[in-house]
Amino acid sequence: MVMELRCPGMNTEGWLADTRTSYDTVANSYADQVRNLLDQLPYERAALALFTDLVRTTGGGPVADVGCGPGRITAYLHELGADAFGIDLSPAMIEIARRDHPSLRFEVGSMTDLDLADASLAGLVAWYSLIHVPDDEIGSVFTHFRRALRPGGLLLLGFHVGDESRLKTQGYGGHPMKVYVHRRQPGLMAAWLNDAGFTVEAQMTLRSAESPLGGILFARRQRDAQ
Ligand SMILES: C[S@@+](CC[C@H](N)C(=O)[O-])C[C@H]1O[C@@H](n2cnc3c(N)ncnc32)[C@H](O)[C@@H]1O
Repeated sequence: MVMELRCPGMNTEGWLADTRTSYDTVANSYADQVRNLLDQLPYERAALALFTDLVRTTGGGPVADVGCGPGRITAYLHELGADAFGIDLSPAMIEIARRDHPSLRFEVGSMTDLDLADASLAGLVAWYSLIHVPDDEIGSVFTHFRRALRPGGLLLLGFHVGDESRLKTQGYGGHPMKVYVHRRQPGLMAAWLNDAGFTVEAQMTLRSAESPLGGILFARRQRDAQ
């Protein structure tokens, strides 16, 4: 069972190290739990298909799945025809991604310090990975996303919708975790994206009996002013 504690006024110091250790700890059980999850989620599959199609119609090119975990979304994007590769903070997650998808490229890295060349990406996906980034670091992460995307490049975000932040102390089969889970309103995400030089093109809110409210947002890197 996953236990979540309300944690107002949390201290986010060390969140990167805690998040890395947490996902290293749960990597195997997380991978087992989510491996076939997309099969049950038609709206998520449709969003990923639309994203791939939009990237293709604007000329195609590399797509980074940032916070890729065990690589299930990277693999699905590849199946849809995208030139996708994955990046994750957790070395254990990357090991599983490489094992499960040996023909795809996966690298250890953090979205807070993206090791990607300027304007090198046609698309970037962050699927339930921004949920761990504290509010005061989101602007900097979006600046990294903007820098790595080419002008007109497409960003796809999946996130938990809501207002609260909680400290998750165990998960994925009762393993110990110390990871903050931040829920955000789509309007707040859109405002942060606008501030970072993105134009929001579409957003969806998903509701299901099994999972908490999910948000999906498509945004495009604005072209530089002449
Ligand atoms: C809930 S999992 C989602 C994994 C994957 N996107 C999926 O949908 O299966 C969150 C992932 O985000 C990664 N993550 C958290 N903070 C990160 C950061 N700063 N940079 C890169 N990855 C990060 C974690 O290691 C973890 O694999």
